[in-house]
Amino acid sequence: MDKVQFDSLFNSIEIIQNPNEFWELIQWFNKNRPVIDGIIEIGILNGGTMLFWQELLSSDGIYAGIDIEKKAVDNAKARFGSDIRMNFIQGDSSSYNISEECGKILGGKKIDVLFIDGNHSAAFIRADYLNYKDYLKPNGLIVFHDIHHPEYPEIGRFFNKLSALPEYSGIKFIDKDKPFGIGILIKK
Ligand SMILES: C[S@@+](CC[C@H](N)C(=O)[O-])C[C@H]1O[C@@H](n2cnc3c(N)ncnc32)[C@H](O)[C@@H]1O
Repeated sequence: MDKVQFDSLFNSIEIIQNPNEFWELIQWFNKNRPVIDGIIEIGILNGGTMLFWQELLSSDGIYAGIDIEKKAVDNAKARFGSDIRMNFIQGDSSSYNISEECGKILGGKKIDVLFIDGNHSAAFIRADYLNYKDYLKPNGLIVFHDIHHPEYPEIGRFFNKLSALPEYSGIKFIDKDKPFGIGILIKK
C-alpha cells in the first residue's frame, strides 16, 4: 500500500488512530507481511481500521471483527458485509462465548494478526490477549493500540511485560506529537 492509498483510506471513514503511527504500522506490514490470511479485530467502532485490514487480506482470507455495540456491528455489516471474507460478532470480547463464536467463524484456520483495541482497562486487555492468542499462527502478531496513551498506562505496562518474555519480540510506533502508541508483539 502506498502513501496515496493510505491517505485515501485514512480519510474515508472516521478512524481512532494517530496517522503517523498508523502509517508506520502499515509500512511495517508492507515490508514484512504484505498479505494477511486471517485477522481478529477487537473493537471496530466505525470500521476505520477495518478498511485497512480488508485491504491487506488475501483473496481467500478471513476477518473477524468483534464489538460490544450493536450500532458498530450493524454499520460494519452495512458497509463491509458484501465481502464474504468479512465477519462480525456483537458481544463482549472478554466472554468465553464470544471467543468461542470467533473460533467457529475461523473454522480451525489460524490467523496472522490479533488487533486489540476494545475495552482499554487492564482486565479486558489481559482477557483479550489470553482468550484469542491461541488462534494465532506460530509466527502470528498481536497488535496493541494505545500503549502510550496517558489515560491507559496499563496497556503499555502489559505490552512491555509481554515483549520482555523470551517467546516474543516487540516493536513500538510512538509518534512525538499526541501519541497513542502502537505495539506489535511477534511470536518467535
Ligand atoms: C477505540 S474504539 C475502536 C477503534 C477502531 N479500531 C479504530 O481505530 O478506528 C473501541 C471499540 O471497542 C468497543 N468495545 C469496548 N468494550 C468492548 C468489549 N468488552 N468487547 C468488544 N468490544 C468492546 C467499543 O464499542 C468501541 O467501538
